[in-house]
Amino acid sequence: MTSKFDVSVAKGLLEQTPANVLVVNLFEGVKIPAGATGAIDIALDGLISKFVIEKEGFDGKFGSMYVLPTYGKIFAEKVLVVGLGRNKDFTLNRLREISQKVVKKCMKMNNAKKVISVLHGAGIGGFDPQVAAQMITEGAMIGAYSFDKYKTEKTQKKVEDFIIVDMVEENCKKAKAGVKKGKLIASAVNFARDLSNEQPAYTTPTKLAEIAQSLNGIDVRVYEKDEIEKMGMGAFLAVSKGSSQPPKFIHMRYKNDKAQRKIAIIGKGICFDSGGLDLKPPSSMLNMKDDMSAAGAVLAVMGVLKELKPNCEVHGIIAACENMPGCSAYKPGDILVAKNGKTIEVDNTDAEGRLTLADALCYACELGVDEVIDVATLTGACVVALGNTVSGIMGNCQSMIDKLIKCGNAGGEKLWQMPMFEDYRDSLKSDIADMKNTGSRMGGTQIAALFLQNFVKKVHWAHIDIAGTAYLDKKGATGASVRTLLNYLLS
Ligand code: BES
Ligand code: MN
Ligand code: ZN
Repeated sequence: MTSKFDVSVAKGLLEQTPANVLVVNLFEGVKIPAGATGAIDIALDGLISKFVIEKEGFDGKFGSMYVLPTYGKIFAEKVLVVGLGRNKDFTLNRLREISQKVVKKCMKMNNAKKVISVLHGAGIGGFDPQVAAQMITEGAMIGAYSFDKYKTEKTQKKVEDFIIVDMVEENCKKAKAGVKKGKLIASAVNFARDLSNEQPAYTTPTKLAEIAQSLNGIDVRVYEKDEIEKMGMGAFLAVSKGSSQPPKFIHMRYKNDKAQRKIAIIGKGICFDSGGLDLKPPSSMLNMKDDMSAAGAVLAVMGVLKELKPNCEVHGIIAACENMPGCSAYKPGDILVAKNGKTIEVDNTDAEGRLTLADALCYACELGVDEVIDVATLTGACVVALGNTVSGIMGNCQSMIDKLIKCGNAGGEKLWQMPMFEDYRDSLKSDIADMKNTGSRMGGTQIAALFLQNFVKKVHWAHIDIAGTAYLDKKGATGASVRTLLNYLLS
């Protein structure tokens, strides 16, 4: 949680602004720095060019860093020179990444409470000051994040103020707008990370419903168990049966008078996935508090819409429950009736996400929306196929998939399309019901998507599998899909 950390913009001269650390940059191969870094080099009597570059051989490779003391030559105590890599390879994603690395580096320093920085990328980099400032802000806030709520001794060193300093009034004005947008986006990412990093005893279905009800400018309807039953959500309800935590079906709505299209975003909300009666082995269960990461992402996205004002109506939908092996748990062999009347033979109780999504998809399709996007930590197969840095995407509308991939990339989130060939469907065949909930282990990601498609009717639909990207060993929750969804809604 990053409550104390703040990013801002100040007009002024870098060399005359007091700070613990001043961040300047260097493109790869540059021997004599120009622009803001050049001005600092001169103020430091050529320390950067004659010592750091010439003597120490600092080459400006992407992500390389050099810290030097200033001994009172300028108002900042230390200068951090960061390498931006080759100018021709410089992108906005690289800029965000650099900013993240810079803050992480400062968090390892003894005293770096106040950090000031040049507006990287806006000079020789050639980017618009507003967009550059947005990337710097996103990177800094995502980099400064740590989840230390349960540490009784907070040992993590903090950066408290990160200030972009520029002497041109016009640049500052644009940068301020970029910082504002960057802050909203990064706070949504970090909000989603908090929810996914939380212990499962905290993020219960009831808690997710409470959080939905507390969001700024969002209408919320929470359906209780008896109402879920009345709506005919037999698949979702079955998954929830083994737990003492009651299920919650959460429907959030963002309205906009100028809305040109209606979009539903659905987030898988399994607050803990033990596997159910098909119990997971301990090592696979370990991180399964993260099985509500997509729900956290949807909550986070809904929470900033009032301020980001996309010109579309957005429905956020979460079917929240736990998947537990209780004495009333659903069983392999049970036959479930989904909201659209289709019957499902339970083959494996650990394929629970698709059952909850089935009913959520039916519900979303009945809202009269143009597009439905579901996001889910759905299959281990996706982790095997794409690893921890790339999410899988599938759907019934290629232009929507293409656009989501583009919006993801713009936010620094990688997506890769998996095929939905009909061949895969065979393995879902059941002898006694319309389908089984699992098929072959091979091609499991695509099979899961084909299963979901049975519950999609008359809408453009895309499905994003974030099983590999939502939660990383040691690093914890990433907020995966928040930036993809926000960029998509804002496009
Ligand atoms: N939540 C898991 C998928 C998952 C696996 C997420 C690893 C994050 C990391 C999902 O509910 C699940 O258990 N899927 C099974 C499906 C199988 C039984 C067909 C899987 O992928 O093993
Ligand atoms: Mn499961
Ligand atoms: Zn799951």
